[in-house]
Amino acid sequence: MSLTHERHPQIQAETHLAAAFPANFLWGAATAAYQIEGAAFEDGRGPSIWDDFAATPGKTYQGHNGDVAADHYHLVNEDTDLMRQLGLGAYRFSIAWPRILPQGRGAVNVAGLDFYDRLVDTLLAKGITPFATLYHWDLPSPLQSKGGWANRETALAFADYAEIVAQRLGDRVANWITLNEPWCSAYLGYAVGVHAPGMQDRQAAIDAGHHLLLAHGLAVPRIRAHTSSQSEVGITLSLTPVYAADDRPETQRDTALAEAFGLGWFLDPLFRGKYPDGLFENLKLAQPPIQEGDLATISTPIDFLGVNNYSRQLVRGAAAQPLADQCESVSPVPGACYTDMGWEIYPHGLRDLLVYLHQAYAPQKIYVTENGAAFQDSWDGNGSVSDPRRVEFLRAYIEGLGEAIEQGVPLRGYFVWSLIDNFEWAEGYNKRFGIVYIDYPTQRRVIKESGYWYAALLSAHRDLHQSA
Ligand code: FCB
Repeated sequence: MSLTHERHPQIQAETHLAAAFPANFLWGAATAAYQIEGAAFEDGRGPSIWDDFAATPGKTYQGHNGDVAADHYHLVNEDTDLMRQLGLGAYRFSIAWPRILPQGRGAVNVAGLDFYDRLVDTLLAKGITPFATLYHWDLPSPLQSKGGWANRETALAFADYAEIVAQRLGDRVANWITLNEPWCSAYLGYAVGVHAPGMQDRQAAIDAGHHLLLAHGLAVPRIRAHTSSQSEVGITLSLTPVYAADDRPETQRDTALAEAFGLGWFLDPLFRGKYPDGLFENLKLAQPPIQEGDLATISTPIDFLGVNNYSRQLVRGAAAQPLADQCESVSPVPGACYTDMGWEIYPHGLRDLLVYLHQAYAPQKIYVTENGAAFQDSWDGNGSVSDPRRVEFLRAYIEGLGEAIEQGVPLRGYFVWSLIDNFEWAEGYNKRFGIVYIDYPTQRRVIKESGYWYAALLSAHRDLHQSA
């Protein structure tokens, strides 16, 4: 790939770093429908909870919404060309449920399926492996008016939707992710209220979590029914490793609590068929409405675990035992660096997390489906965008992946978040995560220095294995 070296001779090929990854390691970038597509009212798309949430005063930064976003819906050719230019092996995108089923269930909007069909064909024609996420937070509004994820019916509707999509794309898409970060959907959406649907009801969050897990479990066989035996179905979780700030017994106790809440709440039912002991009692909440057979459905074996990781949690024990969702964290951590999201940069965290997951839950395969950083990037209208801190961030986290592989973790791929700047949920367009800059007024795409750096890494990885 000559692009990198011609345009940015100062970026050295990262041969040493690339050498830590096996020949078939997949390098990609990730996005999500509502964050990039725009075209919110076109071709029969119905409203989603994120349209409604963003339209509610005070919920998103300066009232930003996804109406136009990065206009990806109209710029698929340009964006897939960018992916090819960067040398991506894979692209993780999400499918907007309200494009496929504007009412959430019932009548299918064929134009919605057509859009993703074209996207998949375009990716394949450009040599890029599609990873499709079926739910990245944009629940059709009509389902929310019946309670959303707090209603068990939503899980059944999701399984029907998953099957409809798999029926159409399953002959070409081999990698499926049912849900993105159900912890965030449940807790941020139903308990804290900073994400759609903006509720503040902790019990509803626990119930929603159960129905999200059930939706996943019900969808797995429905997807498999329409894909080849080589295909893979998994789920992506947001996972933040928890560390103890000191060795006091209170800190040990609270670290375990924070782990049960942040990691075990979703990992345990998926991999062990049960919720963490005492979690709901500790939260002073009732168990979710578990029906017979639910936990067996939820723990249906999956082909891979998708891991999204950005930071870590450093817990300091409190005098009295806290609720598991209210453990005390050290923040800011003295001497630490933070991204524009206020998230601590802690590259060893991803490595430690992967080793922990491998030892504690032993997923067959792992993909890091999101990792990246927001910084305040700017473009002068001419050259490229200089983002040395993002380059440093990516290099350090990716180094950790090499170490995890060396320790036996079955890590098969890595997706940087994100391909392009986009609508960062409640933060709107104020936070930029892309390795490609979006000039929103013109929708121009400008590859950032981190994009060139990533392309150089991928090219070094290819060169190593081509010449081997
Ligand atoms: C994750 C989301 C993703 C993006 C990143 C920064 O929690 O899955 O859509 O917003 O955070």
